[in-house]
Amino acid sequence: MRPKLKYKILTMFVITTFLMIFISYKLIERQYLKYGRLVNRYISFECNNDDICGGWADRLKGLFSTYAFSLITNRTFLIKITKNCDLKNILIPNKILWYSSQVPNSVSNKTLNYAWNYNLEIEFRNSTTILKEISNENLIIIKSGFMFSNVLSENRNFQERLNQLGYEPSKFKLAFQLRKWYQDLFRLNKRLQVKYDKLLKQMKPTVNSKLICAQLRMGDEGHVGESDLDMGSKFWNFINQTFLIDDKMNKFSIFITSDREYFKKDAELFFRNKRVFYTGNSSLHVERPSDSNQCENLEKVIFDFHLMQNCDIGVVSHSGFGILAMWNRPDPFKDLYVYTKKNQDELRQNYWNRKNLTFVKYGNLDDIYFL
Ligand SMILES: *[C@@H]1O[C@H](CO)[C@@H](O)[C@H](O)[C@H]1NC(C)=O
Ligand SMILES: *[C@@H]1O[C@H](CO)[C@@H](O)[C@H](O)[C@H]1NC(C)=O
Ligand SMILES: *[C@@H]1O[C@H](CO)[C@@H](O)[C@H](O)[C@H]1NC(C)=O
Ligand SMILES: *[C@@H]1O[C@H](CO)[C@@H](O)[C@H](O)[C@H]1NC(C)=O
Ligand SMILES: *[C@@H]1O[C@H](CO)[C@@H](O)[C@H](O)[C@H]1NC(C)=O
Ligand SMILES: *[C@@H]1O[C@H](CO)[C@@H](O)[C@H](O)[C@H]1NC(C)=O
Repeated sequence: MRPKLKYKILTMFVITTFLMIFISYKLIERQYLKYGRLVNRYISFECNNDDICGGWADRLKGLFSTYAFSLITNRTFLIKITKNCDLKNILIPNKILWYSSQVPNSVSNKTLNYAWNYNLEIEFRNSTTILKEISNENLIIIKSGFMFSNVLSENRNFQERLNQLGYEPSKFKLAFQLRKWYQDLFRLNKRLQVKYDKLLKQMKPTVNSKLICAQLRMGDEGHVGESDLDMGSKFWNFINQTFLIDDKMNKFSIFITSDREYFKKDAELFFRNKRVFYTGNSSLHVERPSDSNQCENLEKVIFDFHLMQNCDIGVVSHSGFGILAMWNRPDPFKDLYVYTKKNQDELRQNYWNRKNLTFVKYGNLDDIYFL
């Protein structure tokens, strides 16, 4: 053979070989995606640096609603919160392994930004399926800050599925499930658990000890929903006159959390002969982060929230943080008081009217208009 022809054949051979390897690889990959990865379905709650996620309570509302969707659609539930600080530095999985790293690389995915789109409730209240049209996606990512799954409890089409999952349909709402779901998903990291155990022992030294928790949310500075400046004294007097009148056994401790640090000192001065507790510098509204110590700040907010599952009595602002913290107790509505409008219809008309408030007992879900 002439050298030139030999060279041509060799080149053809090499090219053909590579082509065949490439085609086989593509075929195998396709099979793998079809039969391998597609059995892996995930749904992820995400809040990343560029997202608007709201504060800790907003994030929990979206997160647990996504968890509710994961139960109904039988998808593996994941959490990826990296805004301010990676959540897994603070809370770690308890019964459910929610680390987002378990998803294979570059799977088919779709992001749904539900944000605060309350109109979705109209859809979910009556729909026959959820996420059906994207059921082929390996990964569904949801971003939201409201309780978008609550209405499924009123949707007749989901009664059977909820029963099948072991839920009484009318109780498939965050207020009734938060405690269980929070415990399924979360526990504190080791370091925080030590701090928690120690503080809890001080707050509840004996079996008869009772913990009163006060959460005072003033509101972001300049926001229309800022509360009255005399809120502090109203809280202290209400607590003093409602619960401490005959505390001869001195069984009450008081825990204070607030978006203003000075209320904590204020309470210490007012309740001079009581055990008053708070964690310093936990006052951040995490949606408005400072530049420094972002993990430390988020950690303190979450620590307060976690601690409040031990409150026997709750006196809280009309605020997601306070209300969700109280729902995270064995009996969500037990001895719960909300500083709010006496007439809740006024809030329906103007949700951010937070002036001239009073303490309303929150004994049933319908007592308070809470979004
Ligand atoms: C949910 O998925 C698991 C496997 O991930 C399967 O064993 C189970 O049967 C599924 N349940 C329903 C109701 O589809
Ligand atoms: C989501 O899909 C895009 C392409 O559409 C891909 O680039 C990205 O890696 C996927 N994300 C994940 C987490 O798999
Ligand atoms: C809800 O769905 C039912 C049956 O699919 C329909 O008859 C009804 O009009 C719907 N209601 C609303 C408010 O969309
Ligand atoms: C708390 O209430 C008691 C009795 O109602 C009252 O005597 C006391 O002055 C109150 N404490 C403060 C600090 O106002
Ligand atoms: C709270 O922050 C202030 C100012 O950054 C600091 O001086 C103080 O030591 C902090 N207190 C606690 C309990 O972390
Ligand atoms: C609060 O109440 C006072 C007196 O009862 C009234 O003058 C004032 O307009 C009220 N403010 C708001 C914001 O409702």
